Amino acid sequence: MPRPTRGFASTVPPRAISVTSPKPKIHVAGPILPTAEAVLREDFELLDAPAGVDGILAMVTTPVDAAYLAAAGPQVRIVANCAVGVNNIDLAAARAAGVVVTNTPDVLTFATAELAVALMLSLLRRITEGDRLIRRREPWQFSLGFMLGTSLQGRTVGIVGAGRIGLETARLVEAFGAHPILSRRDKPLDELLGRADVVSLHCPLTPQTHHLIDAAALAQMHPTAVLVNTARGPIVDERALVDALRAGSIAGAALDVYEFEPEVADGLRELENVVLSPHLGSATTATREAMCMMAVDSLRRVLLEGTLPLNVVA
Ligand code: DGY
Repeated sequence: MPRPTRGFASTVPPRAISVTSPKPKIHVAGPILPTAEAVLREDFELLDAPAGVDGILAMVTTPVDAAYLAAAGPQVRIVANCAVGVNNIDLAAARAAGVVVTNTPDVLTFATAELAVALMLSLLRRITEGDRLIRRREPWQFSLGFMLGTSLQGRTVGIVGAGRIGLETARLVEAFGAHPILSRRDKPLDELLGRADVVSLHCPLTPQTHHLIDAAALAQMHPTAVLVNTARGPIVDERALVDALRAGSIAGAALDVYEFEPEVADGLRELENVVLSPHLGSATTATREAMCMMAVDSLRRVLLEGTLPLNVVA
């Protein structure tokens, strides 16, 4: 008795039937580096919107809340945030939806600490202020009293947030001969604010750190002290900061992040003792590539290998 041929005529050799499952679908919430996109396309189908995807590669500018996850659908299993900060993600909503959230720590530690130091130096040595003067074609010439600044050497640098980036910043400023002091959870911030010549913010944005640097905190700082923020904008009450700078109750500020990013509070642009950069903390090619690849690795582990990623935050 001939065996059934499952629909193939016995004279026609059966075609090889692919048993591979379709590629998992992911949504990439913002532009990523071409190298990372090429790697992603090998394993995943990229969709323009989150609806129906298995995973999301999110940016700091992607607010992921319960409504976003519901719109993505119940099949979504992972949000890989291409950042170390996860304040854009409602972690409780992700947990409730059974969605894994990952971030990209470590690979950006040095770059972000380096930018913090670059901002300190720009501000203290008046580099961007001098750059603006030259671009305005203002007449100038070398003289002994012209545009004098302050050295980082010998300054006390108050590190608010003694995590990976804060500790790396402390290490770097020590190489410039500065004295880092670290904030501690069990101690009020006032002591650090009252001692520091430079206050550098490195804590995550949480409900507890929102407006941590408000009018009262700024009033604790020396009139000769400066504030540097490479963490998250809303840690600083920007209105209060403008008031403190105008009143001269602090000597300057260098900001890489903004309370209502990408908006910049009125008044900041006009002040010469302010250095502004557009959220460049981790913006080196190598760092951004490493961040992208870390997020890709998380997506792969969850969606292809069924294993837990290395850097789970929820
Ligand atoms: C981060 O990783 O949180 C940065 O702000 C974005 O690079």
